[in-house]
Amino acid sequence: MNFAQPTIPRCEIHDCFACPVGDASWKECVVTDCTGTLPLCRCNAGVKRHFGCLRVVVADVTGMNTDRFVVEESVDEIAAYNRRAWDTQVAKGNCWTIPVTSEVIELARNGTWDVVLTPQKPVPRSWFPKLPGLDVLGLASGGGQQAPILAAAGACVTVLDNSARQLEQDQLVARRDGLQIRSIQGDMRDLSCFAADSFDVIFNPCSVSFVPEVQAVFDEAYRVLRPGGVLMCGFMNPVRLIFDEDELERGQVIVRHALPYADQTRLSAEAQDRLKAAGEPFVFSHSLEDLISGQLRSGFVLRDLFEDQADEEKLSEFLPVYFATLAVKNAE
Ligand SMILES: C[S@@+](CC[C@H](N)C(=O)[O-])C[C@H]1O[C@@H](n2cnc3c(N)ncnc32)[C@H](O)[C@@H]1O
Repeated sequence: MNFAQPTIPRCEIHDCFACPVGDASWKECVVTDCTGTLPLCRCNAGVKRHFGCLRVVVADVTGMNTDRFVVEESVDEIAAYNRRAWDTQVAKGNCWTIPVTSEVIELARNGTWDVVLTPQKPVPRSWFPKLPGLDVLGLASGGGQQAPILAAAGACVTVLDNSARQLEQDQLVARRDGLQIRSIQGDMRDLSCFAADSFDVIFNPCSVSFVPEVQAVFDEAYRVLRPGGVLMCGFMNPVRLIFDEDELERGQVIVRHALPYADQTRLSAEAQDRLKAAGEPFVFSHSLEDLISGQLRSGFVLRDLFEDQADEEKLSEFLPVYFATLAVKNAE
């Protein structure tokens, strides 16, 4: 389907989209402000769907005309929610949002550096090609951590992340330590802002658990990598999500949920409200088949894999809760 992007005025308060017409013929055009509570356009009276401030991808019904549009499926509601949640995580000082120090950057400039895709184990240096001059995409990798280190090690780094505040953490380090990092706010499932064959390395720390479907992430990563380019991903083992999270925090390991898991389908309304009140992002499990075969289906060849854990997590006493993969786009 051809997508056309009509001119949609932005809501000045929330930096999101308002429908340009109050026209009932726009059957699917239902756009609210980014709080999800103030409908800016309700052409389809009674239906409220929140597309947030992330994107309103629109196409005409046939894919040909440009005067009638449908708005893409409402998965963006999740991205809009998780955007706010990660902004909140920055405010709360979540450890994945805390910028590295100038000392770390100075060492990286002198060739001493490591980065993580998972909580603890540094990514083997053998996974990286020689960085100076290479184009690296930090995918969902804001937070002032990996991107500034890779930039200090000589790479030309672009970061695409859903959270403005996570991106700002990278820029904070860039300003402080004199680095260049290109920051783009967007959804990891849609890399249409990049041309095909744009990057040599894509670095994607644990983050696909924040989107409901993962195949688009791999397909898009494959498209924007150059032949011979590498995709490094960190993942949470899906088994992690079968346990009762509240009990885990009390040190009890109790199996509670069947897979596939999503906060929105497995938790009670009260439990979801607690997550929302705490500004916690919503998570989704993805099967190992989706995570591993999904990369192969996109065309990647899997080169390596390691497992990791997080010492502070109770479950790490029982299994490696995280793993990382290295995949390559075949050189043509
Ligand atoms: C665990 S953090 C990863 C970054 C962190 N520096 C690290 O080392 O783990 C997860 C990141 O995924 C981002 N994220 C969540 N949903 C996203 C989406 N749909 N598209 C792009 N980024 C997303 C969050 O904003 C957050 O920065």
